[in-house]
Amino acid sequence: MELNRKTEANQPSPSAPAGDPRLCVQETVGYFSVLAVVLKTSNESPWTDEFDRIELSCLIESISTSNPRIEWKKITNEGPSYVYFDKKISGDLENRAMIREPATLLITNATRSDTAKYRCEVTAADDQRSFDEIVIDLVVRVKPVMPKCSVPKSVPFGKSAELSCVEDEGFPKSQYQWFKNKEEVPDDHKTSLKFFNSSYTLDADSGTLQFITVRKEDAGEYFCRAKNDAGYAECPPQQMEVYDIDVLGILMGVLVVVIVLMSITAGICCAYKRGYFSTQKQTGNNYKVPAKGDGVDYVRTEDEGDFRHKSSFVI
Ligand SMILES: *[C@@H]1O[C@H](CO)[C@@H](O)[C@H](O)[C@H]1NC(C)=O
Ligand SMILES: *[C@@H]1O[C@H](CO)[C@@H](O)[C@H](O)[C@H]1NC(C)=O
Repeated sequence: MELNRKTEANQPSPSAPAGDPRLCVQETVGYFSVLAVVLKTSNESPWTDEFDRIELSCLIESISTSNPRIEWKKITNEGPSYVYFDKKISGDLENRAMIREPATLLITNATRSDTAKYRCEVTAADDQRSFDEIVIDLVVRVKPVMPKCSVPKSVPFGKSAELSCVEDEGFPKSQYQWFKNKEEVPDDHKTSLKFFNSSYTLDADSGTLQFITVRKEDAGEYFCRAKNDAGYAECPPQQMEVYDIDVLGILMGVLVVVIVLMSITAGICCAYKRGYFSTQKQTGNNYKVPAKGDGVDYVRTEDEGDFRHKSSFVI
């Protein structure tokens, strides 16, 4: 019955001029609308910032059924789940969303976990093609939070150095910039006169600023900025010093000499305490006493032959 009414309503008026292109389009759409439910959207991939409102548009371009069944599903890696079912908002979006006629889903306070694909499904029992669906890809952007930055306090001249910057909250994923003395460090050092002779590489995706060989001119105050479409955040500036390796060499040399001297002194002290010298005396006694004893014995008790023997021994 309703189908007939719709058909009549879409009949071109006999009095309309035959060559009107607008009329032709209407006629075509009208012809299919009799048979099918057709959905369309005004935005297939909407985005919003966290805590803002966003509309997932699901428009019914043609339908003949007066009371179609409308459902929304959220599709994540774990599979689809109901968001709108049996004329009620359910699941994640409960109390945060509503339906705007005919089938548009309006999220009033988007959160980061709303980033997903959403499917609008309309079942129109009285249409010949009684089902249509449309998928909307929603992105809820999240501002970066303050990144964690690591800057070495002092680096020896000519050595390598790595500055790192990490931020995990931002969505889409943060990109990174480094600043030295409040001036942006360019991606390619060759593009700037100031940084021309510096040896760094800068990775905007990972946040790493790496010096292959640090120069004196690389010393300065560094900070990093994490940014995405939703905004940016920075870490506080930190000083990086570059010290001369020669000064260090001299200091090390002096230190080595001092350590050697101390070791020698300590060694001598220990040798005295452990009785190294008394051992030497003992050895001397062992050696000399029998010799003396022999000498004394020979002198006191033996005749000339023995005496000669003793003399040769002494010589
Ligand atoms: C949106 O939700 C957050 C928590 O999820 C809450 O702190 C905030 O007040 C809400 N904003 C509005 C406008 O309801
Ligand atoms: C870079 O180094 C070269 C050679 O060491 C020097 O001649 C040149 O002036 C330097 N350039 C800058 C911009 O400091």
